[in-house]
Amino acid sequence: MNWVVTTTSSGETETFGRFFAQALRGGDWVLLQGDLGAGKTTFVRGVTAALGGCGVKSPSFSLVNQYEGELSVAHADLYRLDKADARDLGLDEYEDDGWVVMVEWPERLLYDHQGSGFRVLFRRLSEDGGDDPLNARTICVEPLNDESEERLVLHDVACWENVE
Ligand SMILES: Nc1ncnc2c1ncn2[C@@H]1O[C@H](COP(=O)(O)OP(=O)(O)O)[C@@H](O)[C@H]1O
Ligand SMILES: [Mg+2]
Repeated sequence: MNWVVTTTSSGETETFGRFFAQALRGGDWVLLQGDLGAGKTTFVRGVTAALGGCGVKSPSFSLVNQYEGELSVAHADLYRLDKADARDLGLDEYEDDGWVVMVEWPERLLYDHQGSGFRVLFRRLSEDGGDDPLNARTICVEPLNDESEERLVLHDVACWENVE
């Protein structure tokens, strides 16, 4: 089952990231898909803020940024790579060490993650898609396995709008 929310500002996407973070556990992968400017890094900022990390910048140049918090996050952006081997980047080691591994442009990965986590798809609404078309984004969260889905249900991410 997938959960879809719509945000109308970067602040709201960050808030959703903070709420979503409650469903995360060490060893999860979060695969962030969507065009440039769709809101992936903004979402990561919200997630890490909730987990005690801070100072999120796009890791396009460094490839992997680390945010240490209650639950630590490794944040990779593979946009500049043709193909990336997850093992070369050490992403599997972060997973083994109990970090959350968040990856922008996971399509570039030569690695098929089989464990827990979520795919999160970001999409800009079309120009005529709403009252505030330039800022509206739909965010679709898709659990990667049954256990992750149960956690999402437990934290009731579907009802996040009621929590603010
Ligand atoms: N609803 C929204 N959610 C996220 N970002 C938004 C939204 N509306 C406008 N923005 C703007 O879009 C840009 C998203 O950038 P970023 O998060 O770096 O995207 P990505 O990492 O997907 O390339 C930022 O400039 C942000 O201020
Ligand atoms: Mg980005």
